Amino acid sequence: MKKYVITIVTVTLAVLILALGGYYYLNKDDNQTPSNTTNQKDIKKSSPTNENTKTDNNKENTPSTNGKTPETVTQPTIINGIILANKKHPLPANYNPGENPTARQKVNKLISDAQSLGLNVSNQVSGFRAYGTQAGLYNNYVAAHGKQEADRFSARPGYSEHQTGLVFDLIDNQGQLLGAEGTSESSKKAAEWLGKNAHKYGFIVRYKPEFVEKTGYMEESWHIRYVGEDVAKTIYEKNISLEEYLNAPGGDYAN
Ligand code: DAL
Ligand code: ZN
Repeated sequence: MKKYVITIVTVTLAVLILALGGYYYLNKDDNQTPSNTTNQKDIKKSSPTNENTKTDNNKENTPSTNGKTPETVTQPTIINGIILANKKHPLPANYNPGENPTARQKVNKLISDAQSLGLNVSNQVSGFRAYGTQAGLYNNYVAAHGKQEADRFSARPGYSEHQTGLVFDLIDNQGQLLGAEGTSESSKKAAEWLGKNAHKYGFIVRYKPEFVEKTGYMEESWHIRYVGEDVAKTIYEKNISLEEYLNAPGGDYAN
């Protein structure tokens, strides 16, 4: 009888230990899911149920940016080694890498080659812009044109690709953005050359008219982004936006 009681107690204890162990294991697992899954949970928690972007993000299996702002993100989005800054992927407000030396070297060569061909391109560029500089620019545009219009051509602070240090706006000898509306034929010709040759120097023309839905910005024939020669060649040959190349959400601001 004594033996029987001891067996019952032992079995009961074993069952209890197993049950507690299982409970602990399940909870532990819930807290340690891979970051991708964790992101999806965060999206579900933080998104209104009728918002479609969360589904798109999940489908594309790219980092979620829902609810993220330059003030809350701590790292830039980097996909396959390529930094992405657009209206869905802000940079941290304090991200301040300065001008990228390789990109600078490449743009200098691009400009000197263009000038050797007699094209209307000046040595002047508009390159790296810190968060504060972009804030000043954007606020001026909003004051002059209204927010809705400004958002079509100027990034809000923390959302500008210029803050990566990998971007240059090319300028003609009259001080105008290359090929912009109202510029000379020579400026337009130079912009056309840029469109066909930037990739040879590792740059992409980032905001083409056919990419407006993907990039969230109107055409900018002057704005080139350094991605390296291999990637630039692929993007040029496929004629796709950086968002499509990276399979990452773009377009308008989430809010
Ligand atoms: N003009 C581009 C979109 C910028 O402000 O970064
Ligand atoms: Zn630009």
